[in-house]
Formats: sequence, structure tokens, C-alpha cells
Amino acid sequence: MIKLNYRNADAKVVGNDNGLDIQGEFTAYQDKISEIIKNLNQCKDKPNQWLQWMNLGYNEETLWYVKEYAAMIKGRFENVLVLGIGGSALGGMAMTEALLKPYWNLLSEEQRDGMPRIFFLDNIDPDTMTGLLDFLDLSKTLVNVITKSGSTAETMSQFMIVKDRLEKELGDNYRYNIVATTDKRTGILRQIAEQEGYKTFVVPDDVGGRFSVFSAVGLLPMALVGIDIDAVVNGIKDMDLALKNTDIKENIAAQNALIHYLMDTKKGKNMSVMMPYSSRLKYVSDWYVQLWAESLGKNKDNEGNDVHVGPTPIKALGATDQHSQIQLYNEGPNNKIINFIRVENFDNILEIPNIFEYTGINYLAGKTINRLMNAEADSTRVALADYERPTVTISIPKVDAYNLGQLLYMFEVQTAIAGALYNINTFNQPGVEQAKNYTYALMGRAGYEESANMLQERMITV
Ligand code: PA5
Repeated sequence: MIKLNYRNADAKVVGNDNGLDIQGEFTAYQDKISEIIKNLNQCKDKPNQWLQWMNLGYNEETLWYVKEYAAMIKGRFENVLVLGIGGSALGGMAMTEALLKPYWNLLSEEQRDGMPRIFFLDNIDPDTMTGLLDFLDLSKTLVNVITKSGSTAETMSQFMIVKDRLEKELGDNYRYNIVATTDKRTGILRQIAEQEGYKTFVVPDDVGGRFSVFSAVGLLPMALVGIDIDAVVNGIKDMDLALKNTDIKENIAAQNALIHYLMDTKKGKNMSVMMPYSSRLKYVSDWYVQLWAESLGKNKDNEGNDVHVGPTPIKALGATDQHSQIQLYNEGPNNKIINFIRVENFDNILEIPNIFEYTGINYLAGKTINRLMNAEADSTRVALADYERPTVTISIPKVDAYNLGQLLYMFEVQTAIAGALYNINTFNQPGVEQAKNYTYALMGRAGYEESANMLQERMITV
């Protein structure tokens, strides 16, 4: 199982001003944490609680349909192109980047075991879009368009461009190159999919975008490129079982949620850095940043009081960012808690050869890159402790489907518990919706005329 080491967030290591009496706080918050965990588990089946993500690991039906479709189309496409943004893209990106062989899209078909390449068009930069579309042979590409609302401007504009090109190239058969993942009943994409006869998958009710990675939103892209989604689901289930434990001393999601909450509210650490020492986990940080930011950044508490809470998440990559951000983290404002992710066993062992015998770099010879990577994580952790900067370390045995299922699910539960501690609505995103609505207005969507007029005036002064 994944482990959490919080020693370096304790006052005994980083001093009273910057660290917590962790065991004391665990005891003080035990009843509160127990109530939160019970509440999450009791409410997860109720409608409108937005807790259906807690059931995704047990959704045998979706698992079956996804695997059946992936098996049916196996060998038919050279590429998968995912269209989506935010929660509709980040989970799939994090999981595929972590679990596929590195540089997957550059490998030959044989090296990919006959599986397709995968591309995520998660932004609307006209240059990168044009570049990708010029490169892809759309006739050999399966397009998975993902949007829960069915109307997000970025995703739908991408889709309109791609669909138009597909149709021009393939005529009526273009529809067999499209699979849509969207709401079961509502939304423009659902309507289009039904009219045009696309294969569809469902974003379940009461699952928000940033909590949707283990629905068809993430599982389908994973399955299409051959990732073992049964193993992912086993990881989720085992972690779910572990996190049902209401004893905070045994529940790593509750521990990390409480530590982050108290670091923010008692010690002024209102930034949370996610720093995996593994390039394969780079996009896990992107995914975490969205999860933490959209879930916890809120202006009202559950009673409607103005609170403006939310720790700012920051992504970093070890060892790369030791040469970029760590100077700031060591010596700049002491306002952060840093999460290291440490991989215990990499898939490969890479030895450094003894080729410069009489030079000052010879100490590296005969050691492994693996040892160097983890030595860098350890030395940075100790250096940060010397500067009284709190850190926690999450250790994962290896980067595989089972452990990634565990890791991402653990972060989801951690976020839900943190939101309950802040006493805010973890599962809404009015700030995102406002920006979306302003975009609709500026682009002339019907029904948004009033906002459009207001925005035209505001844009002169703002
Ligand atoms: O987490 C969220 O709710 C958002 O980030 C959405 O995922 C994002 O805005 C995309 O929305 P949709 O899936 O409706 O296109």
C-alpha cells in the first residue's frame, strides 16, 4: 500500500512556528475526522451529494462496457485523439502518462504492442491544434470527445473542427471514428451524439469533472491504449477499504487532509506543493492542482459566510525543480507545505558507467540513477527541514496501474475530507462557471446577450 510519512511536518523536526504537534492534533480531531468519514460513506449513495465518485471503483457495468468496446475496436486505429479540458482531460492525461511506456507516441507499432498512440488536445491554441491536426491521419484516428456539460466552448470548438475534417475525409462513415463521453440525458453533445449515431459513454450523475477520472472519462482512454483498468480498479477498491477506517492514525487521506488544513489555518502555510520524484507522475501534479484548487478555493462556507479559503496548489517535479523552485522553498517565505512523492522501485535500473576514472565525477560511477533520484529526494527533504520548512512524503511501491488507482483515489478522499474541515462545498465550482458563462457571452451564444452587453462595457475599463 501507499504510505505517508509526516515526520517532517511535526514541530519536533521543523520547530513550533512551522510544525504541528501531530499526534496531539490527531487526538484532538479524532471525533471530527471520524464524523466526516462516516458522513462521506453514508451520503455517497444519496442523490445531489456529488459523492458518486466514491462508487466508481465498484461500477462493474462501466468497466465491462469500456473493456468490451476497447476489445472490439482493437487494431482498427493508429491514434486516439482525446478532446476535453479540465476534469475531462487531466485524469486521463495523468494516468496514461504514468502508465504507458515513456515516449509512447514515438514508439513503433510493434513497440506499442499494436496499441494506438494517444493525444490529448486539452487546449485551444490555434498553432498547436493546427500542428497536431496536420500531423494526424484522421482516417486512422479514433476521436474521444469528453464533456460532462456537453457545451464547454473549448471542447465543442475542437470537436466542430475535427468532426468537419473527419466528415470531409470519410464521408458518412466518419461517425465510426467518434466516441462521445457525456451526460446520460442532457447537454448539446448528448443531443448531437444521438442525432448522428455516435457510440457514447456516460459521465455519471453526481460526479464532478475533477472527480471523474475513474468513470468512462478516464477509463476509456486508458483501456483504448491497453492499460490494465482491472488493476486500476483493484487499487481504488483496496484504498477505499483502507480509507473507510475512521481512526485517523490508520487513515492516510485523513492524516494528510488534517495536516494541510492545520498548516494553512494555524501556521500560515497556504500553499501546497506537489513534487513527485518521477517524470511519469508529472501530470499527476497537474491533476492534483485542479482537484485541490477547484475543490477548496471557495468564497463562502456552508453557512453562507464569506470565508475566501483555499490553499494554493503548486506543481513541481523532482529532481528537475531542485534547480528551479527549491531555492525559493528553502529561503523564501515559509508559507508552503511540500508533498514529495517517492517511487520505491522504478521499472528500470540504470547504472552509471565508470568512464571518467580520474575526475571529480568518478564518485557517481557504479551507482545507479535510481539511487541518485531517491538520494535527491532525501537530501532535499532534509535540507528543507534544516530551514524549518514542513514536508510530507508519500511513498508508492512502484508506478503501475494498481498503485496509481490507489494514489489518485487517496487524493480524492483527502480533498473531500479537507473540504469538510474547511466547512465549504468541495464539489461545486461557481468560479469556473462564471468564466465559462462570460466566454459564452463574448462568443455570442444565444441567451447570454445581457452578459455580453455588460462585458462590452466592463472591458473598456477592466
Ligand atoms: O472539474 C470541473 O468541473 C471542470 O474542470 C470541468 O471538468 C471542465 O470545466 C470541463 O467541463 P465539461 O466536462 O463540462 O466540458
